[in-house]
Amino acid sequence: MTARPGMHTLTAGRGLLFGGDYNPEQWPEEVWAQDAELMRAAGVNLVTVGVFSWARLEPEPDVRDFTWLDRVLDLMGENGVAVDLATPTASPPPWLGHRWPQTLPVDESGHRLWYGSRNQFCPSSPVYRERALSIVSALASRYASHPALALWHVGNEYGQVCHCDESAAAFRAWLRERYGDLGTLNEAWGTTFWSQRYDDWAEIVPPRLAPYIVNPSQRLDWRRFCSDALLEHYRAERDILREHTPGTPVTTNFMGLFKPVDYWSWAAEEDVVSNDWYPEPGDPLAPARTALTHDLMRGLAGGRPWLLMEQATSAVNWRPHNLPKPPGQFRLESLQALARGADGLCYFQWRASRFGAERFHAAMVPHAGQDTRLHAAVRAHGRELRGLASVAGTPVPARVAMVFDWASWWALEERGRPSDRLNATDQLLSYYLPLWERGVSVDVVPPSADLSGYALVVVPNLFLVGDRDAAALTAYARGGGVLVVGPFSGVVDERSHVRTGRFPAPLREVLGASGEEWLPAPDDVPVRCRWAGGAAFTAHTWTELVAAEGAEAVAEFAGGDLAGSPAVLRHPAGAGPGSGSAWYVATMPEPAALGEIIARALADAGVAGALPGLPPGVEAVRRGDVLFLLNHGAESAVVPITEQAEDLLTGAVADGEVTLAPRDVVALRPHAE
Ligand code: GAL
Repeated sequence: MTARPGMHTLTAGRGLLFGGDYNPEQWPEEVWAQDAELMRAAGVNLVTVGVFSWARLEPEPDVRDFTWLDRVLDLMGENGVAVDLATPTASPPPWLGHRWPQTLPVDESGHRLWYGSRNQFCPSSPVYRERALSIVSALASRYASHPALALWHVGNEYGQVCHCDESAAAFRAWLRERYGDLGTLNEAWGTTFWSQRYDDWAEIVPPRLAPYIVNPSQRLDWRRFCSDALLEHYRAERDILREHTPGTPVTTNFMGLFKPVDYWSWAAEEDVVSNDWYPEPGDPLAPARTALTHDLMRGLAGGRPWLLMEQATSAVNWRPHNLPKPPGQFRLESLQALARGADGLCYFQWRASRFGAERFHAAMVPHAGQDTRLHAAVRAHGRELRGLASVAGTPVPARVAMVFDWASWWALEERGRPSDRLNATDQLLSYYLPLWERGVSVDVVPPSADLSGYALVVVPNLFLVGDRDAAALTAYARGGGVLVVGPFSGVVDERSHVRTGRFPAPLREVLGASGEEWLPAPDDVPVRCRWAGGAAFTAHTWTELVAAEGAEAVAEFAGGDLAGSPAVLRHPAGAGPGSGSAWYVATMPEPAALGEIIARALADAGVAGALPGLPPGVEAVRRGDVLFLLNHGAESAVVPITEQAEDLLTGAVADGEVTLAPRDVVALRPHAE
């Protein structure tokens, strides 16, 4: 098998990628030449073109005009700007919905969603499929040998869901494939409950608006199907592109922890993992949330470099109140992505739109033009990235893994559970935070990952766990690894049926503990807890009645009905000294207490952070031989460093300590004598 092209294909000879979405169809051609000149001056070397150009490329069915796009690609090529050419299928032209209304998506209450915005297609519509693949074929054959073409961008931010009859038919076909016969499906969906038994495949519909709680097993399969249906469409486009250009990598842009689509199954189908990420400037947890998202992208990319496809230079337009980014902020965020494994830092979009839904979205060239502080900062950033080219391709080594699974996320967050306050991504972030604060690098991995290379594996929540994955977690801790498992894990199987017996049934042995009741706590009453040494801490929202079965109680509940019962347990899971341990956290500890649990697990695992003594707000991460320090705090910070190093951003030599102003970054490479 020949190796697929990837990020290395893009960065070879170009260094780090810098650029953004370019929508020249919104501008007269005179502006294009100016754009090219400005791009050169800013060091732009990659632009994404054509994402929303279907109507311009094909103004009526089968009437196509590529001549303007020819000129755009030629212009980019002449100016040394590589093109990430998009298939325009995320936003079909009005003629598609007008002539073939069945291509328009239907929501769960049966209403059709119309054109006039974007994303209006049914993933299972044969007409949409045919029309999309036809424009993709034309695009691929026309530009296959264009020298500016460097990357294919399939669609945009896949996530469409449709409940129409064509989707229902596709859902049934998917279910037949999964279950074979109706008896098996009825059993998997537990249809003896509420008289839901299906006697004919034709009776099965997507989970549409219903009077009360819909069958959770049905909904779980529906989510799996929706992700798969989109993936099938993506694959069909990708295969056409690969046929024409086997040496050109293919990507589609992800959206971080985006619920509708199981990115573990998608990433394997891409040559380059790319992400769109828009931290909320007012969110105090944004730096950690962003780091977590980047670590997820690196995990999706199998540890290889990935591409930050879209971010904003300042405010977006789609939140109710759009805070701008203070000067220095987008640079800090860009360098954060670089530090966490991105080899390309791109933006939405190059030039701010004058019209349309996103006319108030920040860009690399704002409405006020190039003589602005914002564009000056864009240029300066482009320039400094050239000096960081040697970082491209280098890995971000991590000894800690965090397990995250889409199916478990879907299954957990259904209606009708003990509490809707326990969410998969909140749990993930709360366990990630203390690792991030300590400068410990983390790989986010699926439950099926090979865990053997990690010293610590954290499972913040795995509500749904299959037997094989549970056995792998068990074997991991038995084999000497340190395992931390958060509450309400190991509860259901792949069909979302509760595993009976004491919980978490499939992890009970390795954890040396088991429980019998989940007990959500009142919102306004802190849960009192006590470490084995006597010091108090609080937890919130969630408690469990758990008993030790070989594990030691590291902390117990200190009030209410559960007083004296274990809250945090540690089980020496391995066979001898120095071997693994397994931790179970039967509540939601306050951040400092969770930090203490993580610190102890890190000590068990013998893992230290990138640097001891990190001041709050300072992020530390090693990529290759470079130590990145990023100050997200509002105050200047002094960081002690252990070796003499050169800051790749300024050329300054640091010795003993570095001082970082707010939003400052240093990229320290050990100083060669
Ligand atoms: C992304 C999208 C872009 C643009 C951007 C605005 O979701 O891919 O086309 O809409 O957001 O932030």
